[in-house]
Amino acid sequence: MKALLLSEYKHLEIADVAVPGVGAGEVLVRVAACGICGSDVHGYDGSSGRRIPPVVMGHEAAGIIAAVGDEVKGFTVGDRVTFDSTVYCGECEFCRRDEVNLCENRQVLGVSCGEYRRAGAFAEYVAVPARILYRLPDALSFEEAAMLEAVSVALHGVRLAELKGKETALVIGAGMIGLLTLQAAKVAGCSLVIVADIDATRLKLASDMGADEGLQASSAELVSEVLRVTGGRGVDVVLEAVGRDETVGAAIDCVRKGGTVVLVGNIAREVTLPLQKVVTRQIRLQGSCASAGEYPKAMELVSSGRIKVGPLITAVAPLEDGPSWFERLHEREPSLMKIVLDPRCGANKTGEVAS
Ligand SMILES: NC(=O)c1ccc[n+]([C@@H]2O[C@H](COP(=O)([O-])OP(=O)(O)OC[C@H]3O[C@@H](n4cnc5c(N)ncnc54)[C@H](O)[C@@H]3O)[C@@H](O)[C@H]2O)c1
Ligand SMILES: [Zn+2]
Ligand SMILES: [Zn+2]
Repeated sequence: MKALLLSEYKHLEIADVAVPGVGAGEVLVRVAACGICGSDVHGYDGSSGRRIPPVVMGHEAAGIIAAVGDEVKGFTVGDRVTFDSTVYCGECEFCRRDEVNLCENRQVLGVSCGEYRRAGAFAEYVAVPARILYRLPDALSFEEAAMLEAVSVALHGVRLAELKGKETALVIGAGMIGLLTLQAAKVAGCSLVIVADIDATRLKLASDMGADEGLQASSAELVSEVLRVTGGRGVDVVLEAVGRDETVGAAIDCVRKGGTVVLVGNIAREVTLPLQKVVTRQIRLQGSCASAGEYPKAMELVSSGRIKVGPLITAVAPLEDGPSWFERLHEREPSLMKIVLDPRCGANKTGEVAS
C-alpha cells in the first residue's frame, strides 16, 4: 500500500509498504482523512523525539472498515468509523477508571519514541484495536471526523474545569486547540468567554466562532486588560492553550481567588510557578491530557453544528501533497490551520479550500 513515510528527519516520501496485519481484536481501516497535528510537525524535524524514523505518522483519522479480526464484535466491513488517537489497553487501573488517556500501556498511533513504534494513518490502511473505534454519524464528513480528536481535547479540558454554568472564562491562545476550547466553554454555559492571542488573524477567527471579547495582548498587558474587563476580580476559569512561561504566568494572574486554571498547552518543558500567589489565592491548577471518553460528545456537537470545525480546515489534499504541506507547516506559513490528507486513490481534492 501507499504510505507517507518519514524515512529520516525532515524527509517524507510516498513509499510502498506492507498492508498492516490485523490482530484478532483489531480492524483494518481504509483511511479517508487524516489531519496533520502540530505534534507531527514537531516530530518531523526530530525536535520532540517522538517520531523516530522510519515511521508512518498520523493519529487524527477516519475511514471505512476494510477487514475485521476474528474476535471483533459490533463492527463490520463498510462501517464508517473514527478512532481515538490513544491506543489504551482497557485493563489497567486507569483504563478501568475510564481514565484511558492515563493508561499504563498507552500508545499513540503514528508515534515512534524508543519505547514503541506504532504505524499511523498517513497511509491507505491502518490497523487499530476495535475498542478504540467509534461509528461515525452520517451527518459527519471524513474531513470533519479528522477534527474530532482536537475537539475531544478541548471538551476534556473544559470538563476538567468542572463548570456549573454562567462562569466567566479566559482562553489563552486562539490556535486549533484554543478555538475549539472557546467553543467548548460556550457549550458548557460560560456567560463570557474572552480569548487572547498575539495574532490578530487568529482573534478574528475567535470572534467568528463566538468569543465575546478578543484581546491582542500577552503578559502584563493581558493581565491588566482582563482585570479591567472583569472589574478587577479576574475570571472564574482560565483555559491555557499556548503552554509558555509568560502565558501560564498570565493565566495565574487573570483567574479570580479560588478559581481554576486548566493547563492544556505544553510547548515549554518547564515554567516558573508563582507559588505563594497560587497558594494564598487558593488557585486550582489542573493539567489536561488528550481526552478520555469525549469522542461521542464531540461527534454530537460537530454534527449539530454547535461546534464548528469547517473554518479550521485550511485544505484537504492527497497523500502525495503531504511532504510539501509538512514543509509549509514547518516553515510556519501564516494562516495555515488544519491540513487534512486523503490517501484514497484518485482523490481529486488538491488545494480544495474549505469555507
Ligand atoms: N494537553 C493536550 O492534550 C494537548 C493536545 C493538543 C495540543 N496541545 C498543546 O496545546 C497548545 C496549542 O496547540 P495548537 O495546536 O492550538 O497550537 P497552535 O500553534 O495552532 O496555536 C498556538 C496559538 O498560541 C498563540 N500564542 C503564541 N504565543 C502566545 C502568547 N505569548 N500569548 C498569546 N498567544 C500566544 C499563537 O499565536 C497561536 O495562535 C500547544 O502547546 C500544544 O502542544 C495539548
Ligand atoms: Zn494530535
Ligand atoms: Zn490501560
